[in-house]
Amino acid sequence: MKFPKRVYLTEVGPRDGLQNEKQPVPAATKIELIRRLTDAGVRQFEATSFVSPKWVPQMADAVEVMAGIQRPAGSRVSVLAPNVRGLEGALASGADEVVIFGAASEAFSHRNINCSIAESIERFRPVAEGALANGLRLRAAISVAFGCPYQGEVPLESVLDVVRRMRDLGCHEIGIADTIGVGTPEHVYRTFEAAAKEVPLANLSGHFHDTYGQALGNTLACLEVGVDKFDSSISGLGGCPYAKGATGNVATEDLVYMLHGMGIETGLDLDGLVDAGQWISDQLGRPNGSRAGRALLSRRASAAQAAEAAA
Ligand code: HMG
Ligand code: MG
Repeated sequence: MKFPKRVYLTEVGPRDGLQNEKQPVPAATKIELIRRLTDAGVRQFEATSFVSPKWVPQMADAVEVMAGIQRPAGSRVSVLAPNVRGLEGALASGADEVVIFGAASEAFSHRNINCSIAESIERFRPVAEGALANGLRLRAAISVAFGCPYQGEVPLESVLDVVRRMRDLGCHEIGIADTIGVGTPEHVYRTFEAAAKEVPLANLSGHFHDTYGQALGNTLACLEVGVDKFDSSISGLGGCPYAKGATGNVATEDLVYMLHGMGIETGLDLDGLVDAGQWISDQLGRPNGSRAGRALLSRRASAAQAAEAAA
Protein backbone atom coordinates (compact mmCIF):
# COMPACT_ATOMS: atom_id res chain seq x y z
CA MET A 1 0.00 0.00 0.00
CA LYS A 2 1.30 3.50 -0.86
CA PHE A 3 0.99 6.14 1.83
CA PRO A 4 2.13 9.78 1.82
CA LYS A 5 5.80 10.07 2.91
CA ARG A 6 5.14 13.22 4.91
CA VAL A 7 2.05 14.18 6.84
CA TYR A 8 1.18 17.69 8.04
CA LEU A 9 -0.51 17.95 11.40
CA THR A 10 -2.37 20.97 12.70
CA GLU A 11 -2.43 21.01 16.47
CA VAL A 12 -5.91 22.02 17.63
CA GLY A 13 -5.48 21.39 21.37
CA PRO A 14 -5.28 25.05 22.41
CA ARG A 15 -8.57 25.75 20.57
CA ASP A 16 -10.71 22.63 20.08
CA GLY A 17 -9.07 21.01 23.09
CA LEU A 18 -9.74 23.80 25.54
CA GLN A 19 -12.93 25.45 24.23
CA ASN A 20 -15.15 23.03 26.12
CA GLU A 21 -13.40 23.24 29.50
CA LYS A 22 -15.92 24.33 32.10
CA GLN A 23 -13.40 26.13 34.34
CA PRO A 24 -11.73 29.15 32.77
CA VAL A 25 -8.20 28.21 31.71
CA PRO A 26 -5.90 31.21 32.25
CA ALA A 27 -4.49 32.80 29.09
CA ALA A 28 -1.00 32.23 30.57
CA THR A 29 -1.65 28.47 30.60
CA LYS A 30 -2.78 28.52 26.97
CA ILE A 31 0.29 30.53 26.00
CA GLU A 32 2.59 28.15 27.91
CA LEU A 33 0.92 25.14 26.26
CA ILE A 34 1.63 26.63 22.85
CA ARG A 35 5.26 27.30 23.88
CA ARG A 36 5.68 23.66 24.90
CA LEU A 37 4.06 22.46 21.69
CA THR A 38 6.32 24.60 19.52
CA ASP A 39 9.31 23.30 21.52
CA ALA A 40 8.20 19.82 20.37
CA GLY A 41 8.31 20.96 16.75
CA VAL A 42 4.68 22.03 16.25
CA ARG A 43 4.51 24.76 13.61
CA GLN A 44 0.84 24.66 12.58
CA PHE A 45 -1.61 25.25 15.36
CA GLU A 46 -5.02 26.71 16.13
CA ALA A 47 -4.32 29.23 18.86
CA THR A 48 -7.84 30.43 19.61
CA SER A 49 -11.21 31.54 18.18
CA PHE A 50 -12.59 35.01 17.59
CA VAL A 51 -16.16 34.02 18.39
CA SER A 52 -18.90 35.36 20.62
CA PRO A 53 -17.79 35.02 24.27
CA LYS A 54 -21.43 34.37 25.13
CA TRP A 55 -21.39 31.28 22.96
CA VAL A 56 -17.91 30.03 23.90
CA PRO A 57 -16.70 31.76 27.07
CA GLN A 58 -13.41 29.84 27.13
CA MET A 59 -12.21 31.68 24.00
CA ALA A 60 -12.98 35.16 25.40
CA ASP A 61 -9.25 35.80 25.92
CA ALA A 62 -8.39 35.45 22.21
CA VAL A 63 -6.66 38.85 22.01
CA GLU A 64 -4.51 38.14 25.06
CA VAL A 65 -3.54 34.67 23.85
CA MET A 66 -2.60 35.93 20.40
CA ALA A 67 -0.53 38.76 21.93
CA GLY A 68 1.32 36.38 24.25
CA ILE A 69 2.33 33.47 22.03
CA GLN A 70 5.75 32.94 20.53
CA ARG A 71 5.89 32.19 16.83
CA PRO A 72 9.01 30.29 15.83
CA ALA A 73 10.14 30.63 12.21
CA GLY A 74 7.83 28.74 9.86
CA SER A 75 4.83 28.93 12.21
CA ARG A 76 1.31 29.03 10.88
CA VAL A 77 -1.00 30.41 13.54
CA SER A 78 -4.67 29.74 12.83
CA VAL A 79 -7.77 31.22 14.41
CA LEU A 80 -11.46 30.48 13.95
CA ALA A 81 -13.60 33.32 12.61
CA PRO A 82 -17.34 32.84 12.03
CA ASN A 83 -18.04 36.36 10.74
CA VAL A 84 -16.46 39.69 9.77
CA ARG A 85 -15.94 40.59 13.42
CA GLY A 86 -13.92 37.40 13.78
CA LEU A 87 -11.92 38.28 10.67
CA GLU A 88 -11.12 41.69 12.17
CA GLY A 89 -9.80 39.94 15.27
CA ALA A 90 -7.73 37.60 13.12
CA LEU A 91 -6.20 40.46 11.14
CA ALA A 92 -5.52 42.66 14.18
CA SER A 93 -3.80 39.80 16.00
CA GLY A 94 -1.56 38.79 13.10
CA ALA A 95 -3.02 35.34 12.44
CA ASP A 96 -1.60 33.49 9.43
CA GLU A 97 -4.71 31.47 8.71
CA VAL A 98 -8.43 32.04 9.15
CA VAL A 99 -10.71 29.07 9.70
CA ILE A 100 -14.36 29.40 8.72
CA PHE A 101 -16.53 26.66 10.10
CA GLY A 102 -19.74 25.33 8.64
CA ALA A 103 -21.69 22.12 8.94
CA ALA A 104 -23.06 19.37 6.74
CA SER A 105 -26.38 19.33 8.62
CA GLU A 106 -28.83 22.22 9.01
CA ALA A 107 -29.54 21.30 12.62
CA PHE A 108 -25.89 21.51 13.66
CA SER A 109 -25.36 24.73 11.72
CA HIS A 110 -28.16 26.35 13.72
CA ARG A 111 -26.85 25.07 17.06
CA ASN A 112 -23.22 25.98 16.44
CA ILE A 113 -23.39 29.26 14.54
CA ASN A 114 -27.08 30.19 14.76
CA CYS A 115 -27.88 30.21 11.04
CA SER A 116 -28.68 27.90 8.13
CA ILE A 117 -25.98 26.42 5.90
CA ALA A 118 -26.87 28.84 3.08
CA GLU A 119 -26.78 31.82 5.47
CA SER A 120 -23.44 30.66 6.86
CA ILE A 121 -21.91 30.64 3.39
CA GLU A 122 -23.10 34.23 2.85
CA ARG A 123 -21.58 35.20 6.23
CA PHE A 124 -18.33 33.48 5.31
CA ARG A 125 -18.08 35.21 1.92
CA PRO A 126 -16.75 38.57 3.22
CA VAL A 127 -14.56 36.70 5.73
CA ALA A 128 -13.04 34.67 2.90
CA GLU A 129 -12.60 37.72 0.67
CA GLY A 130 -11.00 39.72 3.47
CA ALA A 131 -8.67 36.91 4.49
CA LEU A 132 -7.53 36.30 0.91
CA ALA A 133 -7.17 40.04 0.14
CA ASN A 134 -4.86 40.31 3.16
CA GLY A 135 -2.74 37.37 2.07
CA LEU A 136 -3.94 35.00 4.79
CA ARG A 137 -4.41 31.30 4.26
CA LEU A 138 -8.06 30.27 4.31
CA ARG A 139 -9.26 26.97 5.69
CA ALA A 140 -12.76 25.61 6.13
CA ALA A 141 -14.04 23.06 8.60
CA ILE A 142 -17.16 21.06 7.80
CA SER A 143 -18.69 19.66 10.98
CA VAL A 144 -20.79 16.52 11.44
CA ALA A 145 -19.78 15.08 8.05
CA PHE A 146 -20.19 11.50 9.34
CA GLY A 147 -23.19 11.89 11.62
CA CYS A 148 -25.00 14.64 13.49
CA PRO A 149 -26.10 14.60 17.14
CA TYR A 150 -29.39 16.29 16.16
CA GLN A 151 -30.15 14.93 12.71
CA GLY A 152 -28.54 11.47 12.81
CA GLU A 153 -27.29 10.29 9.44
CA VAL A 154 -25.77 12.85 7.12
CA PRO A 155 -25.95 12.01 3.40
CA LEU A 156 -22.69 12.11 1.46
CA GLU A 157 -24.28 14.56 -1.00
CA SER A 158 -24.81 17.09 1.84
CA VAL A 159 -21.10 16.89 2.67
CA LEU A 160 -20.08 17.28 -0.97
CA ASP A 161 -22.44 20.23 -1.39
CA VAL A 162 -20.67 22.10 1.43
CA VAL A 163 -17.25 21.02 0.10
CA ARG A 164 -18.15 22.66 -3.24
CA ARG A 165 -19.43 25.82 -1.55
CA MET A 166 -16.25 26.13 0.54
CA ARG A 167 -14.13 25.49 -2.56
CA ASP A 168 -15.98 28.28 -4.36
CA LEU A 169 -15.16 30.67 -1.50
CA GLY A 170 -11.48 30.10 -2.34
CA CYS A 171 -10.44 27.90 0.59
CA HIS A 172 -6.89 26.61 0.42
CA GLU A 173 -7.86 23.69 2.62
CA ILE A 174 -11.13 22.02 3.50
CA GLY A 175 -11.27 19.94 6.65
CA ILE A 176 -13.92 17.27 6.77
CA ALA A 177 -14.79 16.74 10.41
CA ASP A 178 -16.22 13.90 12.42
CA THR A 179 -17.43 16.09 15.25
CA ILE A 180 -18.96 13.29 17.31
CA GLY A 181 -16.55 10.55 16.28
CA VAL A 182 -19.15 8.17 14.87
CA GLY A 183 -17.56 7.54 11.44
CA THR A 184 -15.92 4.26 10.55
CA PRO A 185 -13.10 3.68 8.05
CA GLU A 186 -15.09 2.57 5.00
CA HIS A 187 -17.44 5.55 5.35
CA VAL A 188 -14.46 7.86 5.73
CA TYR A 189 -12.69 6.32 2.72
CA ARG A 190 -15.78 6.79 0.52
CA THR A 191 -16.30 10.36 1.68
CA PHE A 192 -12.72 11.49 1.07
CA GLU A 193 -12.54 9.65 -2.23
CA ALA A 194 -15.68 11.48 -3.37
CA ALA A 195 -14.49 14.84 -1.99
CA ALA A 196 -11.23 14.43 -3.92
CA LYS A 197 -13.28 14.55 -7.12
CA GLU A 198 -14.48 18.04 -6.12
CA VAL A 199 -11.19 19.56 -4.90
CA PRO A 200 -7.55 18.50 -5.26
CA LEU A 201 -6.58 15.87 -2.71
CA ALA A 202 -3.85 18.20 -1.44
CA ASN A 203 -6.56 20.64 -0.32
CA LEU A 204 -8.35 18.16 1.94
CA SER A 205 -7.75 17.40 5.59
CA GLY A 206 -9.23 15.10 8.19
CA HIS A 207 -10.48 16.14 11.64
CA PHE A 208 -11.44 13.15 13.73
CA HIS A 209 -12.84 13.20 17.23
CA ASP A 210 -12.19 9.91 18.98
CA THR A 211 -15.47 9.43 20.84
CA TYR A 212 -16.00 5.89 19.55
CA GLY A 213 -12.30 5.00 19.30
CA GLN A 214 -12.33 5.22 15.49
CA ALA A 215 -10.00 8.14 14.91
CA LEU A 216 -6.79 6.24 14.08
CA GLY A 217 -8.66 3.81 11.85
CA ASN A 218 -10.31 6.72 10.10
CA THR A 219 -6.95 8.42 9.66
CA LEU A 220 -5.55 5.25 8.10
CA ALA A 221 -8.49 5.19 5.68
CA CYS A 222 -7.64 8.77 4.68
CA LEU A 223 -3.96 7.88 4.22
CA GLU A 224 -5.08 5.13 1.84
CA VAL A 225 -6.93 7.73 -0.21
CA GLY A 226 -3.75 9.86 -0.15
CA VAL A 227 -4.81 12.58 2.33
CA ASP A 228 -1.74 14.05 4.03
CA LYS A 229 -3.23 16.68 6.37
CA PHE A 230 -4.87 16.03 9.72
CA ASP A 231 -5.85 17.88 12.86
CA SER A 232 -5.05 16.44 16.25
CA SER A 233 -5.18 17.53 19.86
CA ILE A 234 -2.47 17.11 22.46
CA SER A 235 -3.38 14.40 24.98
CA GLY A 236 -6.73 14.04 23.19
CA LEU A 237 -8.13 17.17 24.83
CA GLY A 238 -11.46 18.49 23.81
CA GLY A 239 -15.02 18.25 22.70
CA CYS A 240 -17.50 20.54 21.06
CA PRO A 241 -19.77 22.77 23.15
CA TYR A 242 -22.58 22.04 20.66
CA ALA A 243 -22.13 18.26 20.50
CA LYS A 244 -22.88 16.83 23.95
CA GLY A 245 -20.80 13.82 24.92
CA ALA A 246 -18.33 14.33 22.06
CA THR A 247 -14.79 13.73 23.30
CA GLY A 248 -11.56 15.22 22.06
CA ASN A 249 -9.79 14.86 18.78
CA VAL A 250 -7.40 12.03 18.17
CA ALA A 251 -4.46 12.56 20.55
CA THR A 252 -1.47 14.07 18.76
CA GLU A 253 0.87 11.64 20.55
CA ASP A 254 -1.16 8.59 19.36
CA LEU A 255 -1.27 9.85 15.79
CA VAL A 256 2.44 10.68 15.72
CA TYR A 257 3.28 7.28 17.23
CA MET A 258 1.30 5.59 14.45
CA LEU A 259 2.71 7.75 11.64
CA HIS A 260 6.34 7.42 12.77
CA GLY A 261 5.80 3.68 13.16
CA MET A 262 4.69 3.61 9.52
CA GLY A 263 7.82 5.51 8.47
CA ILE A 264 5.84 8.68 7.73
CA GLU A 265 7.52 11.97 8.65
CA THR A 266 5.73 14.61 10.70
CA GLY A 267 8.57 16.92 11.77
CA LEU A 268 7.40 16.47 15.37
CA ASP A 269 9.28 15.22 18.42
CA LEU A 270 7.17 12.51 20.06
CA ASP A 271 8.96 12.73 23.43
CA GLY A 272 8.41 16.49 23.57
CA LEU A 273 4.74 16.01 22.71
CA VAL A 274 4.38 13.44 25.49
CA ASP A 275 5.81 15.97 27.96
CA ALA A 276 3.47 18.72 26.72
CA GLY A 277 0.49 16.35 26.90
CA GLN A 278 1.22 15.36 30.49
CA TRP A 279 1.84 18.97 31.45
CA ILE A 280 -1.53 20.22 30.19
CA SER A 281 -3.32 17.20 31.69
CA ASP A 282 -1.79 18.10 35.07
CA GLN A 283 -2.79 21.74 34.64
CA LEU A 284 -6.39 20.75 33.98
CA GLY A 285 -6.36 18.09 36.70
CA ARG A 286 -7.46 15.31 34.39
CA PRO A 287 -6.00 11.99 33.27
CA ASN A 288 -3.77 12.05 30.21
CA GLY A 289 -6.06 11.08 27.30
CA SER A 290 -3.27 9.80 25.05
CA ARG A 291 -2.67 6.07 25.20
CA ALA A 292 0.74 6.39 23.53
CA GLY A 293 1.53 9.21 25.96
CA ARG A 294 0.66 7.09 28.99
CA ALA A 295 2.56 4.07 27.65
CA LEU A 296 5.69 6.09 26.89
CA LEU A 297 5.58 7.78 30.29
CA SER A 298 5.29 4.43 32.04
CA ARG A 299 8.15 3.03 29.94
CA ARG A 300 10.26 6.04 30.94
CA ALA A 301 9.41 5.51 34.61
CA SER A 302 10.41 1.81 34.41
CA ALA A 303 13.68 2.67 32.67
CA ALA A 304 14.46 5.28 35.35
CA GLN A 305 13.73 2.72 38.11
CA ALA A 306 15.93 0.11 36.44
CA ALA A 307 18.76 2.65 36.08
CA GLU A 308 18.41 3.59 39.75
CA ALA A 309 18.45 -0.06 40.82
CA ALA A 310 21.57 -0.69 38.75
CA ALA A 311 23.40 2.34 40.16
P1 HMG B 1 -25.48 35.27 17.00
O1 HMG B 1 -25.99 35.39 18.40
O2 HMG B 1 -26.42 34.81 15.96
O3 HMG B 1 -24.75 36.57 16.46
O4 HMG B 1 -24.22 34.30 17.03
P2 HMG B 1 -24.92 38.09 16.70
O5 HMG B 1 -24.27 38.74 15.51
O6 HMG B 1 -26.33 38.43 17.06
O7 HMG B 1 -23.97 38.36 17.97
C1 HMG B 1 -24.30 37.95 19.29
C2 HMG B 1 -23.32 38.58 20.25
O8 HMG B 1 -21.99 38.09 20.00
C3 HMG B 1 -23.21 40.10 20.10
O9 HMG B 1 -22.85 40.62 21.36
C4 HMG B 1 -22.04 40.25 19.17
O10 HMG B 1 -21.39 41.49 19.31
C5 HMG B 1 -21.12 39.14 19.62
P3 HMG B 1 -23.94 41.43 22.24
O11 HMG B 1 -24.39 42.54 21.37
O12 HMG B 1 -25.05 40.43 22.53
O13 HMG B 1 -23.15 41.81 23.44
N1 HMG B 1 -20.26 38.64 18.55
C6 HMG B 1 -18.95 38.46 18.66
N2 HMG B 1 -18.08 38.67 19.67
C7 HMG B 1 -16.78 38.39 19.43
N3 HMG B 1 -16.32 37.90 18.28
C8 HMG B 1 -17.14 37.66 17.26
C9 HMG B 1 -18.52 37.94 17.43
N4 HMG B 1 -19.60 37.83 16.64
C10 HMG B 1 -20.65 38.25 17.32
N5 HMG B 1 -16.67 37.15 16.12
C11 HMG B 1 -22.10 33.61 16.16
C12 HMG B 1 -23.53 33.95 15.84
C13 HMG B 1 -21.50 32.96 14.94
C14 HMG B 1 -21.34 34.88 16.53
C15 HMG B 1 -22.09 32.63 17.39
O14 HMG B 1 -22.98 31.59 17.11
C16 HMG B 1 -20.73 32.08 17.68
O15 HMG B 1 -19.83 32.81 18.08
N6 HMG B 1 -20.56 30.75 17.51
C17 HMG B 1 -19.29 30.12 17.72
C18 HMG B 1 -19.49 28.68 18.04
C19 HMG B 1 -18.15 28.00 18.23
O16 HMG B 1 -17.12 28.64 18.39
N7 HMG B 1 -18.19 26.64 18.21
C20 HMG B 1 -17.02 25.87 18.41
C21 HMG B 1 -16.06 25.95 17.26
S1 HMG B 1 -16.52 24.95 15.88
C22 HMG B 1 -15.95 23.39 16.29
O17 HMG B 1 -15.48 23.16 17.37
C23 HMG B 1 -15.99 22.35 15.22
C24 HMG B 1 -14.62 22.02 14.62
O18 HMG B 1 -13.71 21.61 15.62
C25 HMG B 1 -14.79 20.90 13.59
C26 HMG B 1 -15.59 19.72 14.19
O19 HMG B 1 -15.07 19.02 15.06
O20 HMG B 1 -16.74 19.60 13.78
C27 HMG B 1 -14.01 23.23 13.90
MG1 MG C 1 -13.56 19.63 16.43
